[in-house]
Amino acid sequence: METTDLVIFGASGDLARRKIIPALQTLDGKIKGLRVLGAGRSEMTTGAFRQLVAEASGNDRLASTADWIQLDYKSQDGYEDLRKLIKKDRSVVFYLATPPQTFADILAALNASGLSGREAGHRIVVEKPLGQDAQSARKLNAQLGELFSEDQIFRIDHYLAKDTVQNVLAFRFSNSIFEPVWNRTMVQSIEITAAEEIGIGNRAGYYDRIGAVRDMVQNHVLQALALVTMEHPATFDPADIRKAKLELLRAVEPLDPDAAVRGQYQGYLNEDGVDPDSRRETYAAARVQIENWRWDGVPIFFRTGKALRRQSTEVVVRWRDAPQLAVAGRKQRPIPTLLVIRIQPDEGITLRIGAKRPGPRFEMVPAGMKLEYRRLARTPLPDAYDNVLREVMAGGHTVFPGGKEIERSWDIVDPLIESWESDGHPELYEKGSWGPGAADDLLAGRAGDRWVNSGDEPGTA
Ligand code: NDP
Ligand code: BG6
Repeated sequence: METTDLVIFGASGDLARRKIIPALQTLDGKIKGLRVLGAGRSEMTTGAFRQLVAEASGNDRLASTADWIQLDYKSQDGYEDLRKLIKKDRSVVFYLATPPQTFADILAALNASGLSGREAGHRIVVEKPLGQDAQSARKLNAQLGELFSEDQIFRIDHYLAKDTVQNVLAFRFSNSIFEPVWNRTMVQSIEITAAEEIGIGNRAGYYDRIGAVRDMVQNHVLQALALVTMEHPATFDPADIRKAKLELLRAVEPLDPDAAVRGQYQGYLNEDGVDPDSRRETYAAARVQIENWRWDGVPIFFRTGKALRRQSTEVVVRWRDAPQLAVAGRKQRPIPTLLVIRIQPDEGITLRIGAKRPGPRFEMVPAGMKLEYRRLARTPLPDAYDNVLREVMAGGHTVFPGGKEIERSWDIVDPLIESWESDGHPELYEKGSWGPGAADDLLAGRAGDRWVNSGDEPGTA
């Protein structure tokens, strides 16, 4: 590959330090002359930034060539310094790793200083969430489209870059036995859980403006939902996969506040930097309807939140129960057949079935057939950001959502955000619990009447 400058806006931040810069270590050597330029408002010497790069990447060569450019995202001056640092013959990747409200200003300033443009090798990477609602996302997409061609734009949703998420496509479309039962006739419900054990850490400035719906649902949850429920794409080229996801998202009904639950963990208001009167949700759950031939009438539930019992990201497909079985005159409750796709941790897929317990009696017990995903790997599973950065550098679009999908996802979540921001309070939940009790009521009378917590449920772990 050619020599490349990676300009990270917001390089002083959490994401750059924890994910982006460490991922560069896996690229060094594959990209000749990779150089990191950090840009942001922080007063930092180049020496201090080099130290940051050295600590985050563990790569001395990368650190010794890094540079820091102090700039106000809105003002032209710093961009002039940036322009001087970038040599004509180098490819440039601009990576916007700042809070979403800064994106429009950075793009405008890049344009005004002549740094954007359709030159070969130039790329722009924008973090999620893209915008704060459908209107701002449309504006940003238009702005991106004026400054860069579509193949230069990389909109991040790092969930798509997780191998276990990409494996959903492989699982569904390379095993023909599942397709005939992947529909409203056979599936009773689908649950998507993206639970985190950690709270908001030191990200109050970002999180208290954003909340769980914008942070997780608009992007990661809806992308996972789309991959699980979309039709077969014409090919596995990025454009066709995007098309299939967009079609699906167009069939998803905008979220109904009456079928949704918001929560806030106890102690959130005492977190450093959180408004003491904040009504911001740290938990969101809802019932989703897909109005299409395949899924009509099948409830799809999601829940996501911070400070929950444990980290667990998974999709559970529950098939319709078998008729009750009478054994020696006694009816046995059928054991639900569940497919648990574990995105993380303990990556894998488990098919939970009913089986006869060995012994003289005909007794049914839940049992699991399990794929341990890590066993398929020759090396440790890469971090999603390793995959993101590799794809950006290679110019591939497989793990990036398209602009239209992002806009449609905002159309889906906006009614919920508007309703929650204008009215009411979140239900408090205990740290370390599974979230507000009301989330269980969402399932009442449906599915199994309670969420599947795969680690706790026999046959699913
Ligand atoms: P931070 O809050 O750490 O912000 C990153 C940098 O942006 C800061 O160091 C700061 O740099 C600048 N910044 C912060 N707040 C403002 C503000 N109000 N106005 C202008 N500049 C500001 O965020 P993260 O690093 O956590 O996230 C950055 C982006 O990445 C967000 O869009 C987020 O959604 C996304 N993301 C983050 C993940 C994570 O785990 N952290 C994971 C996935 C996505 P300076 O003061 O030097 O200008
Ligand atoms: C990010 C959110 O997009 O995803 C964070 O901004 C969240 O709030 C993170 O913690 C979760 O990612 P992962 O890969 O740890 O599940």
